Amino acid sequence: MTRARCAGVPSRLRTEVLLDDEQRLIQARVSLTQQIDRGSVVLSSQLAGAFLNVPRHPFVPVFYRREGERFIPWRSTDGDAEAWLDAVYTDDSLITEVDGVHAEQADPGGVTGVPTSSSTAPSLMADMLDALDVKEGDEVYEAGAGSGYNAAMLCHLAGDKHVTTVDRSDTLTALARERLNGIGFDPLVIHGDGARDVPPDAMYDRIIATASVRRVPPLWLERCRIGGILVAPLKGTLAGGMIARLTKLPDGTAVGRILHTPAAFMPLKTGTEVEVRYPRFPTAPPVKPRSPAVCWMTGRSRSSPSSTCLTVSSARTAGATTVCTSRRCTTLRAAQPLVSRTCLRGLRW
Ligand SMILES: C[S@@+](CC[C@H](N)C(=O)[O-])C[C@H]1O[C@@H](n2cnc3c(N)ncnc32)[C@H](O)[C@@H]1O
Repeated sequence: MTRARCAGVPSRLRTEVLLDDEQRLIQARVSLTQQIDRGSVVLSSQLAGAFLNVPRHPFVPVFYRREGERFIPWRSTDGDAEAWLDAVYTDDSLITEVDGVHAEQADPGGVTGVPTSSSTAPSLMADMLDALDVKEGDEVYEAGAGSGYNAAMLCHLAGDKHVTTVDRSDTLTALARERLNGIGFDPLVIHGDGARDVPPDAMYDRIIATASVRRVPPLWLERCRIGGILVAPLKGTLAGGMIARLTKLPDGTAVGRILHTPAAFMPLKTGTEVEVRYPRFPTAPPVKPRSPAVCWMTGRSRSSPSSTCLTVSSARTAGATTVCTSRRCTTLRAAQPLVSRTCLRGLRW
């Protein structure tokens, strides 16, 4: 039903009509998939299939929009349902919780504070899922269930009986479980600390975190099968963050690379982020501070305001052996002199 045809119809009814309009919902998913594919992510057919098949709107029936300092809850029934649906199927993150107050529970006047849960921007989800390379039947563990939308993608890719997702908030886990069940998925949804509450004895082929860690929790590495993949956002001392993709080796360590996608995730709230030592990572010689470095990708000098670089030492601190941008990867070896700075798209000095 078009906006003009809806004139005079109460907004709740208009929403119901819109959310019953299968063609319109398919169109919305196609539009989102195209937005992702037009960006830096080249979607595999598997991932395109996931974004085309798994709807986002059941996971975010209400989310916050920003008005100055305030976060105002926005429901599908709050007025212009078309605008709401467009926002849901736009490649943006949608904030669902601020300082522990879920948008479902917020007063219409909104709240102020710091976002504590969101549905991640779909293109970022796509990048991380692409790196995770989930195959049907893989056992998958997600730390940070949030809205449940990413867990739904994992269910689509691996099969719902193979997915476990954890969140520290019982409101979020209850809602995520209900919404996943609502679209026919029944994964294991756990209320707990994603760094600690990995089900006893379970081993995983794929582990993904959707909240950032300063160090990879040892339990994730322990519970990842040899050859398994672990994708986690790392939070360093820089304002931004980056995503590590590690493969578990037979000796119990892991090696990997940093994705080109810049990412600033909410932190995984836990006091148990114990540093894991990766013997295969080279020990970085001290970086000469303030060297007149030139970014190898852009050729710009450090003082250039539009340079988008991250220092090699930062990448190493995060435990990377290879650093990639959208154009190329570079392997950091112990013997390699630290003459250049490594660029990551979107991260500014
Ligand atoms: C960016 S959101 C996750 C997005 C989610 N994957 C989705 O698709 O909507 C980050 C989530 O991590 C959760 N979180 C923070 N600390 C956690 C912890 N220690 N264990 C599990 N979840 C945690 C937050 O509650 C929040 O829901």
